Amino acid sequence: MSLDLDKRQRAMLREMGVRVWQPLPAPAALVQAEAEAAHTINNIAAGARPERAAARFDVEKPAATALRVPAAAAPQVDPLARPQGVDRMDWPALQAAVATCRACALCDSRSQTVFGVGPVAAGAAAPQVDWLIVGEAPGENEDLAGEPFVGQAGKLLDNMLLAMGLQRNQGEAPPQAGLSRSIFITNVLKCRPPANRNPDPAEVAQCEPYLQRQVELLQPKMILALGKFAAQSLLQGSVPDVQKIPLGKLRGQVFSYLGVPVVVSYHPAYLLRSLGDKAKAWDDLCLALDTLKRPA
Ligand code: URA
Repeated sequence: MSLDLDKRQRAMLREMGVRVWQPLPAPAALVQAEAEAAHTINNIAAGARPERAAARFDVEKPAATALRVPAAAAPQVDPLARPQGVDRMDWPALQAAVATCRACALCDSRSQTVFGVGPVAAGAAAPQVDWLIVGEAPGENEDLAGEPFVGQAGKLLDNMLLAMGLQRNQGEAPPQAGLSRSIFITNVLKCRPPANRNPDPAEVAQCEPYLQRQVELLQPKMILALGKFAAQSLLQGSVPDVQKIPLGKLRGQVFSYLGVPVVVSYHPAYLLRSLGDKAKAWDDLCLALDTLKRPA
């Protein structure tokens, strides 16, 4: 696959530790390009708008394979423990249901629920977005802020998104030139597991209808599942024994959740510890971008 990357995207990829191929500039131009890239990163941090410059980019692309597999059995949950009618709620009702949810014990230890972040909804309608990013669960920072991915892993996620030409919504601030805000970020769990332990299956099952309704209302064109809990939650209905499949084996394919394409990648917190896999994560993002651009 070949992508046109501008200076900002190349700078973000360099920040992520992802090396991309591009034609070698002449030696004098190389020094200038390095200086501009460093300047670009500083400008982005300061909220400035870098200008665009095209460059060729080639990466090895994993094969995109549509999986068609029979549905697996859904986990058993007590539907009475959750607000009724989640599957018919509009966006504000869903937000209120999540905010007051007491369907599992996490409600006793959370500071607040974390519904997700994206464009502001108009009236009862959900924002319509191209991208839905699904992580695992709020951590300590997210529990306090009420917003997903605000810690170190969130900074890496933001850089990954910038490299894709995407920017999360931040209050009323307008997007930077050339970036799209057509993105909603959420988690499988809307409450923080104590001490950042892994979500347990009953908690995932109780929260699943909220994520399902978010997908139905947001109508994204692409879902990026980050980490094994997001992958398992979204694919449990279509990939048999998905819990037994290592995350690496779920990469490089395009799955489907409620008719929306799903691409699986590494969780940003894992990438902070495993720098060598950042290039693979970039391959996954390219697969998702490529799939989104492809005519249906
Ligand atoms: N990790 C996640 O999966 N989600 C967050 O919101 C923060 C860290």
